[in-house]
Amino acid sequence: MGLQKRTVWLDCDPGFDDWLTLLLVCRSPLLHCAGVSVVAGNAPLAVTLGNALRIRALHGLQVPVYGGCERSLMGGSETAQNILGKQGMATLGETLPSTAQKADGMDGVGALLTHLRGQQASQAKTTLVAIGPLTNVAKALQQGARAMQTLDEIVIMGGSTDRGNHTPAAEFNIFADPEAADIVFRSSIPIRMFGLNVCRQVLLTQTHVQEVKSWLGAEAQILGGYLDAYQRIRSSDGLEPMPMYDPVVALWLHAPELFGFQDAPVDIELDGKLTRGMTVCDLRNRAARPINTHIAMRADGDAVMTLLLKQLKKALAS
Ligand code: RIB
Ligand code: CA
Repeated sequence: MGLQKRTVWLDCDPGFDDWLTLLLVCRSPLLHCAGVSVVAGNAPLAVTLGNALRIRALHGLQVPVYGGCERSLMGGSETAQNILGKQGMATLGETLPSTAQKADGMDGVGALLTHLRGQQASQAKTTLVAIGPLTNVAKALQQGARAMQTLDEIVIMGGSTDRGNHTPAAEFNIFADPEAADIVFRSSIPIRMFGLNVCRQVLLTQTHVQEVKSWLGAEAQILGGYLDAYQRIRSSDGLEPMPMYDPVVALWLHAPELFGFQDAPVDIELDGKLTRGMTVCDLRNRAARPINTHIAMRADGDAVMTLLLKQLKKALAS
């Protein structure tokens, strides 16, 4: 009897770190990726969806990909193109090849709900992995709360227990749609939050980049060029390590023992002039308020990076 695979649904905004996560999840021996919904975030939806389809084509991934929300619940369109470039990710090598592949639909929210409703009969569980702004997830909660309640948990890359990255107080995924994040954190579905605080313990260096660039094959070479550009975001000479954001979630799915958590209430700041989009994590251990989140506080950064390269090499070879 083979090991029962864990079913996941990936909501993302490719972005290079999303690319790594999509590859690791879809090529994992432990996971079954039931579907991918794409949201605007690192770049507008047309770009993030186009990136997702090109990534799927490059690696020959067998997974349905759906377009999702183009704008935040309040109609905003915050992107990270000022840092990542027009395409939402840059390369120092060969560009990700274009593809004629089309999305399997443009209602990613409906596709997620259809998947969950299909599972209700068998009482099977799905883990929702959300590594972009939470607009699609919030809409799914608004359109299908009962179906969403069948999730075992919502695992996000987003937020922070300390400083932000897009503003001094807010991490990008939350800042891009704070109202959506507020709906998700208030949903009573268990949230597992991988914020900047833990991602900053998992650092990508040029040593890692050169290791990937030494691998043979077109997929590894193309991915290596984007990895190199990603690693140089903080310092163009590559001397300053760059945190791994989204893939940290995929690595927790494979090696939870490498991470430590604190259960605490998390609220989303919606009104602060300087703090809008902040994840207010109440780490004071006071039981006064309902605990809604498992907050990732510790990671064995070296072991996580070693595992990342090991899994990436296997994913590219399979
Ligand atoms: O703040 C980091 C997050 O914002 C990552 O998910 C990255 O892909 C961007 O979406
Ligand atoms: Ca992302």
